Amino acid sequence: MLESSAPIGIFDSGIGGMTVASAVTRLLPRENTIYFGDTAHLPYGDKSTAAIQAYAIKICNVLLQQQCKLILIACNSASAAAFELVREYVGSKAKVMNVIDPVVDYIKERYDGKTVGLIGTKQTVLSNVYKKKVDALDKNITLKSMATPLLAPMIEEGFFDNSISESIIAKYLSDPELAGIESLILGCTHYPLIKKQIRHYYGEQVEILDTSEIVAQSLRALMEQHYLLNEKGSGERRFYVSDYTQSFEASTRLFFGKQIQLSHYPLWE
Ligand code: DGL
Repeated sequence: MLESSAPIGIFDSGIGGMTVASAVTRLLPRENTIYFGDTAHLPYGDKSTAAIQAYAIKICNVLLQQQCKLILIACNSASAAAFELVREYVGSKAKVMNVIDPVVDYIKERYDGKTVGLIGTKQTVLSNVYKKKVDALDKNITLKSMATPLLAPMIEEGFFDNSISESIIAKYLSDPELAGIESLILGCTHYPLIKKQIRHYYGEQVEILDTSEIVAQSLRALMEQHYLLNEKGSGERRFYVSDYTQSFEASTRLFFGKQIQLSHYPLWE
C-alpha cells in the first residue's frame, strides 16, 4: 500500500527537468519531492537506448530507497527510451509516469484531424515513440517531428531571448519538415525557456504546447485517482545530482526559477 505522505520522485538527465519539477511544485505545493539529476551522464539526448535504460534503473533504486510513492520520468529522452522498462522494474512499489503520455492524451482530445509538430532531442524524435503513440490514437492526427539537438546546449549556456537563439530557432522551425503545423509540442525539458521566442516566431498561428504544465496536471489527476495526494505535507524538497559542479548549481536558477542547493549523490561508487 502506497502512503500519500511519501515523497514524489522526479528524475532527469540533469537540471532541465526542473522545469517539470517547478510546474509540479507550483501546482502541488504541499507535496514533498525528491529530484534526481543525472548530471554525470547528461546529455541523454545523444545516448543509446540501452545506456539510458541502465541509468534510469539505477536512479529508480535511489528513489525507491527513499520510499517514493510515485516516480516521474521528467525527461523526454528517458521517457522515450526507458518508460516501459522502468514501469516493469518498479512494479507495485510506486506509480510511474512519463512526460510523453500526458501530452499524447492532451492532443487526443483537441487535435482530431490536425497537423501537430514535435521538436526534441535525437533520442526522443528518432525513437518514434511520440509518432507510434499518436498513430495508435486513430484520430487522424498527423505528427511532423524534427530533432533539434542544438537547442538544449544553447539554452544551458544561457542563450535565449537574444539574437543568436532567435536565428537558431528560426533556422530549425523554418525547415520544410515542420511546414503546415497547427500546434507544436515542446518535447524537451529545456524548451519552456524558449517558449516566448517560439511563440514570437509563429505569431498566433501555431499553439505552443508547454509539456511541463500538461504533465503537472496529469500527475495531479493520477494521484487523485489513487488517493495519493498529500494534503498535509510541508512541501519539503530535496535535490540530488550524480555529479556536482558549481555551474550545475548556478543553472538551477534558469530551470527552477531560483537557485537551489544541490547534494552530490554518485550513482556508481
Ligand atoms: N532532459 C532531456 C530531454 O528532455 C534534454 C537534455 C538531454 O539531452 O539530456 O530530452
